[in-house]
Amino acid sequence: MRKTRIAVLCSGGGTNFQAIVNAQEAGLIPHGEVVLVVTDNAGAYVLTRAARYHIESAVVDKKEYKDRRLREEKILSVMREKDIEFIVFAGFMTILSADFVSAYEGRIINIHPALIPSFCGPGYYGLKVHEEVLARGVKVTGATVHYVTEVCDGGPILLQKAVEVREGDTPEVLQKRVMREAEWVILPEAVELVCKKLQGIEG
Ligand code: GAR
Repeated sequence: MRKTRIAVLCSGGGTNFQAIVNAQEAGLIPHGEVVLVVTDNAGAYVLTRAARYHIESAVVDKKEYKDRRLREEKILSVMREKDIEFIVFAGFMTILSADFVSAYEGRIINIHPALIPSFCGPGYYGLKVHEEVLARGVKVTGATVHYVTEVCDGGPILLQKAVEVREGDTPEVLQKRVMREAEWVILPEAVELVCKKLQGIEG
């Protein structure tokens, strides 16, 4: 079976990266293979996770590449070097330009820790999303996997999963529940879905 070559972009801990690798090891992503991890943070724990699985990694540190255009060019050149066909943003905290997106049109997905179109867009990332969810008092939140376009969190939605907000939740407790019940479930599913789609396999 042909395997689509996947790069995972991640800025921090990499639990979503881990979920993808776990799914891969369990045979749930037969049409794809993570061959590269790229981070914009030299201290990201995802680098340790990648090394554990002998997956190549590249650091394009924000502190070193302060200019966004140069940073994006560097990321793109790493992608081309490794023949990457499909990019997965898994906790990647950078908004990319239209030029970057158009280079991989229809081939970039992102996981967002809320039910888009709620609690999304510029400024909504990581724990901040869950703080806003609790402040607004919504009873249901969740996660969304969507295609990346030049509009932040605005691309077509692929998968969503709802998660209950409970009395007494803190942002940290809610974040963990959203990850466990939604993100780590729908992101690996979406990865396999898109790999198949890119190979022209429907369903
Ligand atoms: C995840 O909750 C992900 O959905 C979120 O950052 C966290 C990264 O955790 N992404 C965003 O907020 C993007 N706007 P991880 O590094 O453990 O996967």
